[in-house]
Amino acid sequence: MKITIIGTGYVGLVTGACLAELGNDVFCLDVDQHKIDMLNNGGIPIHEAGLEEIVARNRAAGRLQFSTDVAASVAHGDIQFIAVGTPPDEDGSADLQYVLAAARNIGRHMTGFKVVVDKSTVPVGTADRVRLAIEGELTARQSDPQQCPVTFSVVSNPEFLKEGAAVEDFMRPDRIVIGCDDTSEGQLAHAMMKNLYKPFNRNHERTFWMDVRSAEFTKYAANAMLATRISFMNEMASLADKVGVDIEAVRHGIGSDPRIGHSFLYAGCGYGGSCFPKDVQALERTAGAYGQELMILRAVEAVNNQQKHVLGQKIVARFGDDLSGKHFALWGLAFKPNTDDMREASSRVLLRELIQRGATVAVYDPVAMPEAKRVLALDLGPTFDQQRIRFAHNAMDALTGADALAIVTEWKTFRSPDFAQLKAQLKTPVIFDGRNLYEPDAMADAGFEYHGIGRSVLTRT
Ligand code: UDX
Repeated sequence: MKITIIGTGYVGLVTGACLAELGNDVFCLDVDQHKIDMLNNGGIPIHEAGLEEIVARNRAAGRLQFSTDVAASVAHGDIQFIAVGTPPDEDGSADLQYVLAAARNIGRHMTGFKVVVDKSTVPVGTADRVRLAIEGELTARQSDPQQCPVTFSVVSNPEFLKEGAAVEDFMRPDRIVIGCDDTSEGQLAHAMMKNLYKPFNRNHERTFWMDVRSAEFTKYAANAMLATRISFMNEMASLADKVGVDIEAVRHGIGSDPRIGHSFLYAGCGYGGSCFPKDVQALERTAGAYGQELMILRAVEAVNNQQKHVLGQKIVARFGDDLSGKHFALWGLAFKPNTDDMREASSRVLLRELIQRGATVAVYDPVAMPEAKRVLALDLGPTFDQQRIRFAHNAMDALTGADALAIVTEWKTFRSPDFAQLKAQLKTPVIFDGRNLYEPDAMADAGFEYHGIGRSVLTRT
């Protein structure tokens, strides 16, 4: 099928490359000439496992092209995916200016039936606004006698891709959510979307068909539920620390109940990334617009904001308010492993706190170091001083002479370090583990003072 993807960000690029991999003829559009040039020269603007190979293979096969040509992009695809960014507005609601601009472009250039798919995470009711934006352009063109009336249908097909596993998630989805309306155009769109996603439904039907608004809402409800589980466990972990309970034992104990399940129950130093913080806020704003307050989500957000300070608080409790003269090693900068994404990362909160309290820090992340340099310069402004933050060559190098190690991201490579070497590198063998990577008992036996999250019952100092 002929597909256009508008926006070659993280969602658009993965969607475009994977749809090409399935044999579709895909045209990817972006306004950023630099990014398009990079993609046309074999470069990949994001770090995502398996993506580079798929892009290269499908470009070579002529099934995947990148361009800034708006008219050509509209002409190409029978299905037009809108996958542009929806950054939070000042008040936390999703900013739809890029989505609506993409819709207007489609309306301006289309000459035949188009299925317009909202792939970006957009609030309930956005499909109606996209429809109105396209209709507005079509009406403006009606004065042209050469124009035949053209029809279209707007569909909601939210993505459920996890960064770092996005290609795998796209190729092996646990579900596909598609919302179509029940007009005749909607029925045509339904048939075309069914055909597009047929390869995923061969052995087992994975598509949930619903109305457009319910599909839009499903995405927010999924992320809000996952964020809620994390904040719930983080709140339990704070209490566990106080009452002498091991949150890891509790996690096993409750997760084995099939009604609860094991996933997304890991206490840590807070969730980050491009989705959870933004989507929780956007859903709260949607509710606010209808006069409802989402009390649970307000608490989810508050607990998470607090949780990002938990490592800093543990460090202050151990070393005091004034950290001048102290030096720390920090492992992990990205908001989670297998990505270089620093958006809303807990490392940013901890680093700011350590620097403001006068400490120096040596940081290491397997892939996010270049992105961290860019982001930290913005975060810390004039206090961003390479004398006070050292970008280490490797994990062990970061430890040299440090009063303690703090771990913020659960990269696999941090899971089984050479503990004897680790201890030898540190000035004092103290670890603040924001992701509960190690067993407190084993750490105590190895001679470490170990501070996990919600594991105080086992901490021997
Ligand atoms: C999430 C959703 O999982 C995905 O379906 C949606 O499309 C986009 O948002 P992503 O943001 O890539 O994906 O990351 P995810 O793996 O879900 O982790 C989000 C954050 O939660 C990370 O900071 C992670 O460290 C944290 N987390 C996750 C926990 O603190 N505890 C957990 O148990 C799980």
